[in-house]
Amino acid sequence: MALNVSPLTLGTSGLGRGTEPGSREEEAAVDVAEQLFASTHAFIDTSNNYADGRSEAVLGRAIARLGADAATRVISKVDADPVTGAFDRDRVLRSFDETTARLGVDRLPLLHLHDPFTVTFDEAIGRGGAVEGLIELRESGRVGAIGVAAGPAPLMARYVDTGVFDAVLVHNRFTVVDQSAEPVFAAARELGMTVFNAAPFGAGILAPGARAGAMYAYRPAPPALQEWVARLERVCAAHGVPLAAVALDFSVRSPLVDSTIVGISSARRLAQLDELAATTIPAEVWAELEALGPAPSPVDDSAYA
Ligand SMILES: NC(=O)c1ccc[n+]([C@@H]2O[C@H](COP(=O)([O-])OP(=O)(O)OC[C@H]3O[C@@H](n4cnc5c(N)ncnc54)[C@H](OP(=O)(O)O)[C@@H]3O)[C@@H](O)[C@H]2O)c1
Repeated sequence: MALNVSPLTLGTSGLGRGTEPGSREEEAAVDVAEQLFASTHAFIDTSNNYADGRSEAVLGRAIARLGADAATRVISKVDADPVTGAFDRDRVLRSFDETTARLGVDRLPLLHLHDPFTVTFDEAIGRGGAVEGLIELRESGRVGAIGVAAGPAPLMARYVDTGVFDAVLVHNRFTVVDQSAEPVFAAARELGMTVFNAAPFGAGILAPGARAGAMYAYRPAPPALQEWVARLERVCAAHGVPLAAVALDFSVRSPLVDSTIVGISSARRLAQLDELAATTIPAEVWAELEALGPAPSPVDDSAYA
């Protein structure tokens, strides 16, 4: 394992969204960030483009208040240029500079290549490509480790197989609904990489459960999935455990996952996360989950195969 991670990593894709610098709303977001740093969870996950840079800016303000220890606990990601879509070596270096300026740090323990969709795989790994920029940053010591972070499992498999990354992050593909990242995580494990599994709640439906407007992987959950989740909710209710605790433990208990990243944007959610993580799931729940049969996952990564 490249990093000394804890079972849970706190995700901040929504932190600071829509806040203006100096506003009361920003202040409230900085307070939340301080609570994230006060938690026992080792790392906080952000990205250059989360909330249009406001996630890093808010974390930076919290770091300025809290000092050196906090500065070692943030993992970020480099993103394509938001205007041109450029995602080559030079853009990676610029993205890293933007990130360190917002966070007010010189160095990061881990920096991921984030959602490399505006370039082909060959462009990303080729001469002058984004991966070259990441390797340079690692060689210069400005980042401790490099990773790749995105969704589509077939694409992630190709990046993992290059053998150049220390960590991988896949989202919404290793949940009770969809396990298509399993071979990617197994391959990463073989290579000694740190494995992050993001979005154990499918960014929605697996926390509050099936209901009108519920989402899976940032899209409306189709009726067949809503029905399947409702059946799982009945299993959970029969054993007196919340659906969200089962969804979380599915990831945390897996020997393929080093750390599960959960999106947290309030102190209340942070407290709830710790309660969910402390819930014991009876073995019968896993057997009854299995008996439900595979969920009708709406994720379709065939374009990347
Ligand atoms: N490409 C990438 O690298 C990538 C992609 C996706 C995610 N990630 C990382 O992984 C993190 C997690 O992903 P995510 O936030 O999209 O998905 P997630 O963790 O599966 O779900 C977060 C959602 O669950 C809800 N939730 C959390 N705890 C809850 C509770 N106790 N009861 C009810 N609802 C609860 C939150 O609702 P509220 O909004 O109401 O709090 C939020 O909408 C991100 O923040 C990011 O750091 C990375």
